[in-house]
Amino acid sequence: MSYIIIEHITKTLGDENSLVTAVNDISFKIDEGEFVAVMGESGAGKSTLLGIMGAMNAPTSGRLLVDDIDVYELHQEQQADFRREFLGFIFQSFHLVPYLTVIENVMLPLAVIKMESRKKREMAKEALVQVGLADKTNRLPNQISGGESERVAIARAIINEPPVLLADEPTGNLDKKNTQEIMELLGQLNQDGMTIVMVTHSQDCAHHARRIIQISDGYLIADNVITSSVIEMIKEKEIVTDQGLTVLAAGHS
Ligand SMILES: Nc1ncnc2c1ncn2[C@@H]1O[C@H](COP(=O)(O)OP(=O)(O)OP(=O)(O)O)[C@@H](O)[C@H]1O
Ligand SMILES: [Mg+2]
Repeated sequence: MSYIIIEHITKTLGDENSLVTAVNDISFKIDEGEFVAVMGESGAGKSTLLGIMGAMNAPTSGRLLVDDIDVYELHQEQQADFRREFLGFIFQSFHLVPYLTVIENVMLPLAVIKMESRKKREMAKEALVQVGLADKTNRLPNQISGGESERVAIARAIINEPPVLLADEPTGNLDKKNTQEIMELLGQLNQDGMTIVMVTHSQDCAHHARRIIQISDGYLIADNVITSSVIEMIKEKEIVTDQGLTVLAAGHS
């Protein structure tokens, strides 16, 4: 049985006058330890889908199963527990709290957990070591670079060692070098066993995943395991959308 099962999920948004079907009858499964990239044009429904997978936004219809748990059948409090236990989330912008230091930002997800603060600090330190920021623990967010901020966001997402990491354009604001470093970091976390779902507009980033799911206008249009031939396909049959985004020609593996 797959670890994450998305079953006929649809999400309509907006009011009666302007209804948008942001996610339209999407189904797919993810096994434990996969690294999946989600691609598609701006407005395709990627963030909406990720929010649904993150137990943060109930679908209009359909089911989300994670480790056999029917997530949207849980009560609100149980959903919060589920999020804490199963998920790390990296948002499109870093969402660091400006008046908290780096280590305090990383400790935030533990705020509601009963645990000695010394222990929390130790865990945060460990997460910061993992992302290579052990020497910047006491800086404020405005005293670190964009790439470092992204690392803080990753440290915060992995502090309670969640089995699943959901990342919405984790390198959207970074230059090439920082992007490469963040992708290597995510690759390492995946090798250590974390299941990762990452929204990205960048093909270079998508190549770090092992599978690419393409969304267009709310629909799943392609789902490919990345092999050298898929990479060739991306190179040869690229379709450039009006957003300038290169998308993969539809086709299933
Ligand atoms: N709260 C909302 N109310 C109404 N429509 C919404 C809402 N949130 C998103 N949408 C619409 O749903 C569609 C999907 O949005 P979504 O944010 O999922 O796109 P995306 O693929 O993440 O785009 P981007 O690459 O620009 O981040 C868009 O048409 C968007 O305008
Ligand atoms: Mg988005």
